[in-house]
Amino acid sequence: MPAVVVLGAQWGDEGKGKATDQLGDRTDYVVKFNGGNNAGHTVVVAGEKYALHLIPSGILTPGVVPVIGNGVVVDIEVLFEEIDALEARGVDTSGLLVSSAAHVIAPYNRTIDKVTERFLGSRRIGTTGRGIGPTYADKINRIGIRIQDLFDESILRQKVEGALATKNQMLVKIYNRRAVTVEETVDELLRFAERLRPHVADTPLVLNQALDEGKTIVFEAGQATMLDVDHGTYPFVTSSSATAGGACTGSGVGPTRIDRVVAVAKAYTTRVGEGPFPTELLDADGDRLRESGGEYGTTTGRPRRTGWYDAVVVRYAARVNGLTDLVVTKLDVLTGWEKIPVCVAYDVDGTRFDEMPYDQSDFHHAKPVYEYLDGWTEDISQARDFEDLPAAAQRYLLRLEEVSGVRVSSIGVGPGREATIVRHQLLD
Ligand code: GDP
Ligand code: IMO
Ligand code: MG
Repeated sequence: MPAVVVLGAQWGDEGKGKATDQLGDRTDYVVKFNGGNNAGHTVVVAGEKYALHLIPSGILTPGVVPVIGNGVVVDIEVLFEEIDALEARGVDTSGLLVSSAAHVIAPYNRTIDKVTERFLGSRRIGTTGRGIGPTYADKINRIGIRIQDLFDESILRQKVEGALATKNQMLVKIYNRRAVTVEETVDELLRFAERLRPHVADTPLVLNQALDEGKTIVFEAGQATMLDVDHGTYPFVTSSSATAGGACTGSGVGPTRIDRVVAVAKAYTTRVGEGPFPTELLDADGDRLRESGGEYGTTTGRPRRTGWYDAVVVRYAARVNGLTDLVVTKLDVLTGWEKIPVCVAYDVDGTRFDEMPYDQSDFHHAKPVYEYLDGWTEDISQARDFEDLPAAAQRYLLRLEEVSGVRVSSIGVGPGREATIVRHQLLD
């Protein structure tokens, strides 16, 4: 009856969606606990590709209850676009539960996200422009709009009025945009309220009762450890808690009830948006990784920055998340390289760092210290057991396990649900 967190060890897009989907037939609930439609999870089932943003990846397994937790920020229009697109493809979304305490992305926050990025110029974060940061800022500032506010129009109106008092000053006086009216904002927020109503629930109660009954829950993170607002490469991060603790605050399930914390890591590294990335390849090798890995964003279509596996990052993720297992994805993408560098430490202006520097400027100056492992040329996409892999690929994984400090429990050798090697079951 376990509760398992699945999160990203790097800068996102590690393949969390696929890893979560794979646990679908062993779990009763899949809970998204942070982020919003900045996330993009591609899941391939029987050759059919699904791009999920707001709805947890468990939706693709009949019988699993997908839950949007209180820690998520919800763009209601996007939610229903996603629901409609899934329903049109025959996926039943009627069981979806949405926390009454989740915050709503108001239309003015989408605008503010885009204009603040423009004003930051060269200091921009490279956000997805979905209004994520301003919505979490409103939550912390206590001027946010929550799902439950949509069912009391007079409270909603008061809250929108309160928020717009300062938002409009910002929009008009700082950013030279037009003011928005309370009326248009309330109308837009209420557009889907009645459709949403049957999905709204006291999700912390539902989830804790489910655990009491011996049910299984997978908590699926958006983003990743290095994008976490506390533990990531601040300020080049998202605005939510994408690490294991976020699974508790973002769902209302206490830490004593979590049994395992699984991180997903690519066999190399990618990043979208701005910010430091020590193993980044800015040459033809980087282009080769991008093309062979199909490294273009699921949400924004932006080319992802690419680089070698960084064990310092994954060791750090192991520490701040208390990892029990690692899922290494996209091993197939590395087929054909003669030597594969793995970063085991950093050199910062002549000083060796075996662990993540706590000072951000040191991290900005970190140069990777590489170990060069032997590559392989055999197609591994059909491998289903560890022993099916060429000896060099096995050695690569065993070395990743050693330098990352966490056991490799599962290995991805292709985008499809079936293209996976399981060494240790993540849910027994
Ligand atoms: P997420 O945001 O962590 O869920 O990851 P994304 O879906 O944004 O990006 C991962 C991409 O890699 C998707 O296109 C997946 O279909 C694909 N993928 C996942 N695992 C594997 C794998 O083992 N091999 C290959 N070739 N592709 C994979
Ligand atoms: P998944 O769940 C990769 C990045 C953005 C930007 C920074 C802040 O698919 O792994 P935001 O819009 O969140 O304020 O942008 O975070 N980012 C992601 N990068 N994968 C994601 O999600 C991301 N979600 C946000 O590119 O650098
Ligand atoms: Mg993604």
